Amino acid sequence: MRVLGIESSCDETGVAVYDSGAGLLAHAVHSQVELHAPYGGVVPELASRDHIRRVLPLARQVLDAASLGDSPPEAIAYTAGPGLAGALLVGAATAGALALGWGIPKLGVHHMEGHLLAPLLEPDPPAFPFVALLVSGGHTQLVAVRAIGDYRMLGESRDDAAGEAFDKTAKLLGLGYPGGPAIAKLAATGDPARFKFPQPMTDRPGLEFSFSGLKTFAINTLAEHGPAAGADIARAFEEAVVGTLRVKCRRAVAATGFRRLVVAGGVGANRRLRTVLHEIGRQEGFTVHFPRLEFCTDNGAMIAHVGALRLAAGLREEDGFTIRPRWPMDELPPLP
Ligand code: KG4
Ligand code: ZN
Repeated sequence: MRVLGIESSCDETGVAVYDSGAGLLAHAVHSQVELHAPYGGVVPELASRDHIRRVLPLARQVLDAASLGDSPPEAIAYTAGPGLAGALLVGAATAGALALGWGIPKLGVHHMEGHLLAPLLEPDPPAFPFVALLVSGGHTQLVAVRAIGDYRMLGESRDDAAGEAFDKTAKLLGLGYPGGPAIAKLAATGDPARFKFPQPMTDRPGLEFSFSGLKTFAINTLAEHGPAAGADIARAFEEAVVGTLRVKCRRAVAATGFRRLVVAGGVGANRRLRTVLHEIGRQEGFTVHFPRLEFCTDNGAMIAHVGALRLAAGLREEDGFTIRPRWPMDELPPLP
């Protein structure tokens, strides 16, 4: 089944065509980073308007690149949530109109399930079961994954998500938006021995996270040592987040007895995190799987992919379209 996927939950418009047999045929992403940069964060109304401008030209471009000939795709998947309501509506309405016009089925899919299964797009995909670490701008979650749709939450963040902590700390340090890549770049030049930030909630059992306190550490250190210490602060901050994720991932793998760890979501693009988790996997004897860098952050490929899995299993949405700006992943229906 050839599925057109549309992602518009936040600040990237992503479109892709995925074929259940042949794999990914084409994909493209338009990032709104430059649009939101002057405001230091995503402005929802600007995001929606830009999705409206971009989605159809991007869809045309991707359909051309996928060389489907005269035949339309066989189904459409779009991100129904979680995300910004106005932004989600653009993808949902576009998918609804195209599906109606082409007379093909469509399905709203879960953004985080898209991230979660993105490592399956790689040449050496992990087998089930695995532990998934989802680390994005809105989520930090450890999930036990036994099969598609069989997700058990092991632990999540009580406050800021890991990506959110990167973004907020970047703002404090006067770095641009998005903060993750900016902190990572600055941290690479920082002295790892100068400051030690705590690794929140690693000193007690459990798989919950709390990242909001790290901001306070960054503020206090900055106040004491001044902006010249920026790179060293960025380094200490990154080490604290990565170190915390390392401890919790190792714990989650041990608790489940699974032998595979899958990491997905924007923070999964962090090179230090990738190195440290591969290292711990080697030490403890489990394999670690990341999507390629461009599929860590938001994209249409992961939506077309998860849509193809669910649509091929017979799931579809009848009339109208649904968006769910808040949508807990454990409310997802399992595959029939
Ligand atoms: O998955 P994503 O593209 O969007 C959401 O669904 O949230 O994740 C975006 C988040 C942002 O918070 C961004 O700062 C973070 O991922 N991020 C990174 C890196 N690249 C993106 N964080 C740390 N290091 C990176 N290299
Ligand atoms: Zn995302």
